[in-house]
Amino acid sequence: MQWGLRNRLSRIIKPDTGRTVMLAVDHGYFLGPTTGLEDPGALLSPLLQYADALMPTRGVLRACVDPAEAAGTPIALRVSGGNSILGELSDEGLTVSMEDAIRLNVSAVAISIYVGAANQHRTLINLSRLVDEGERYGIPVLAVTAVGKDMARDARYLSLACRIAAELGAHFVKTYYCEDFERVVRTCPVPLVMAGGKKLPEPEALQLTYDAISRGAAGVDMGRNIFQAESPLAMIQAVRAVVHKGEKPKKAYELYLSIKSGQAKKKGKK
Ligand code: 5RP
Repeated sequence: MQWGLRNRLSRIIKPDTGRTVMLAVDHGYFLGPTTGLEDPGALLSPLLQYADALMPTRGVLRACVDPAEAAGTPIALRVSGGNSILGELSDEGLTVSMEDAIRLNVSAVAISIYVGAANQHRTLINLSRLVDEGERYGIPVLAVTAVGKDMARDARYLSLACRIAAELGAHFVKTYYCEDFERVVRTCPVPLVMAGGKKLPEPEALQLTYDAISRGAAGVDMGRNIFQAESPLAMIQAVRAVVHKGEKPKKAYELYLSIKSGQAKKKGKK
């Protein structure tokens, strides 16, 4: 891997722990104003310092994130899209040129692939082209294994999708947790980060994080389980404790509760 590409990837996957806590806020590209993301600017301002990387769309990055405030937060920019929950989700193309991604000073670009879905071929070719561009300019590519509504999120399917992404040149892969997750990690030759998926009660989301990390994930790229938590600020810190310090879920939940109650006290004093 070339120097620039490795350097950018090291901004995201921290060399001291080999892990990362990425904050995904790209949902609006097909879901519109997702719960918790109605006002991305207000949400993100206090969270940025706790994210090893932020995964937004171009529009949210430009309109809602202060470039100075985000100076220390690497950006993994969502560059695929073109559909919505009202259409065929797999019908995606590239939505941002590499030139604009570079202008936005990104540390990586992210694209979804839809293995087994209607537009499998197109999304895999999109990934391959994006990897060519990424290699040309030293920008790592994160492949997101999107799963169609009628597909099983099991180790058989997810290891197929992750391995294809890696074979086509993705520098890291985002996928869902499943039973026998070790198999997905073992058969994927590049770092794998776990997507959080639908909102769970906080103790369960911390358990999920712990399970993914202890089974070999290089971290998380988590959205709803952070920004839809009762306290997103407490949740991202609790997730960090699991990912970077190996904290057990019970302890991490205690940390969540204590940060949340500290916040409530601060608000009460105002
Ligand atoms: C869909 C995506 C997202 O929009 C998002 O990043 C998912 O994050 P989470 O499941 O943790 O809310 O990648 O394929």
